[in-house]
Amino acid sequence: MNGDGTVREWVGMVDDVEEQRHAEEQLQQAQRIQAVGKLAGGVAHEVKNMMTAVIGFGEFVLTDLGPRHPQRADVEEILRAGHRAAAVSRQLLAFSRQQILQPTVLSLNLVIEKLAALLARLVGADKALRLHLDPEAGRVRADRSQLEQILVDLAVNGRDAMASVGRLTIETAAVTLDAEYAAAHPNVRMRTGRYALLAVSDTGAGMPPDVQARAFEPFYTTKPIGEGTGLGLSTVYGIVKQSGGYIWLYSELDLGTTVKVYLPLVPNEMEAQPQPTPPPAPRGCETVLVVEDEPMVRRPARRALEGHGYQVLEAATGSEALELLARSGTAQVRLVVCDVVMPEVNGRELGAELRRRQPTLPVLYMSGYTGEDVVQRGLLTAGEPFIQKTFTPELLAERVRDLLDGGGPPEV
Ligand SMILES: Nc1ncnc2c1ncn2[C@@H]1O[C@H](COP(=O)(O)OP(=O)(O)OP(=O)(O)O)[C@@H](O)[C@H]1O
Ligand SMILES: [Mg+2]
Repeated sequence: MNGDGTVREWVGMVDDVEEQRHAEEQLQQAQRIQAVGKLAGGVAHEVKNMMTAVIGFGEFVLTDLGPRHPQRADVEEILRAGHRAAAVSRQLLAFSRQQILQPTVLSLNLVIEKLAALLARLVGADKALRLHLDPEAGRVRADRSQLEQILVDLAVNGRDAMASVGRLTIETAAVTLDAEYAAAHPNVRMRTGRYALLAVSDTGAGMPPDVQARAFEPFYTTKPIGEGTGLGLSTVYGIVKQSGGYIWLYSELDLGTTVKVYLPLVPNEMEAQPQPTPPPAPRGCETVLVVEDEPMVRRPARRALEGHGYQVLEAATGSEALELLARSGTAQVRLVVCDVVMPEVNGRELGAELRRRQPTLPVLYMSGYTGEDVVQRGLLTAGEPFIQKTFTPELLAERVRDLLDGGGPPEV
């Protein structure tokens, strides 16, 4: 047939038609994902807002019920479900690229290395985790927790695809996506340039073409009910897109899967300037009372303050705090740091009582909500000294010093 020009041409045409069909399929898939993303994002916004109300009012009820009320457990269940729904809506927002990111310039390799122990645990002892990190892979502009989310989601998918033994490989490299590469992916508007490649490969079951075609859709899962929500890859997809990157999936049945993520490399001259280290927070020796029901917050707050020279008293509840103040004589305690949402007596109530007993005693409120949120929920009045969890020890010490000195730090 080699000598037959006509046949040759005919073969070429088949190639073109095949290519054309492939391109159309790719385009349809991209459009479908876009449409689903729009819908998912809209729903997620609604759900997130509703859950804000469910969780907020649930917490009010919990506070009012008191610690030994028989219906407390019921409300706690409602809150747990509310938090779960809020988490799902956050993932959906990530997929539809409507989540607020906090991008910084990060070393891709360093993020992976720091997460390696966790990833190894996730993957399990019977499977190997290999890292091939190219020192050239360099820096990307990304939201750290989102980057970690990508790694966790891809590692978990790889693990789940490997029945018992297997190998999960995480690779990085610096690559150039050139015009030729862009031409090979005609339906993706690709910016050519330097990218950091993150490739996660497994030696698992692989995906048949129909699964590959739908894998990035939210809620698409082949896992049994209760095991997968089908949000892993769609979340990864959203994060990558929002970070200006690309994602491809290569999979062969019974051989395994490789997911390749390309994130734009940050050129060297734009490398993170060494941040000028802020001057250490001023110290003090006054006695501070920390009122917080969650020991995981209370203890670090104590350590942060002691680390800056303060004497620290702790109370787990508002009433415990009031008792402690009555016993030790209020004069001794110079400032109260107090959680806003606590069972029994909440922060606002405790603050009011403290103001009644000792109007000059400054109170610094803290909450996981933003300042705006706590005011909107009626948890605090605008203008009160406030610090949002999670804060650094330095920031807490700074706010405490400011308040003790009667200064006007940023408020709610
Ligand atoms: N590494 C992989 N190997 C084989 N199949 C995979 C792999 N990654 C994803 N898949 C397929 O794609 C589907 C969707 O993946 P995705 O991560 O979005 O959801 P999930 O893993 O099923 O659930 P979730 O991540 O929410 O727990 C999976 O159910 C699985 O069929
Ligand atoms: Mg998954």
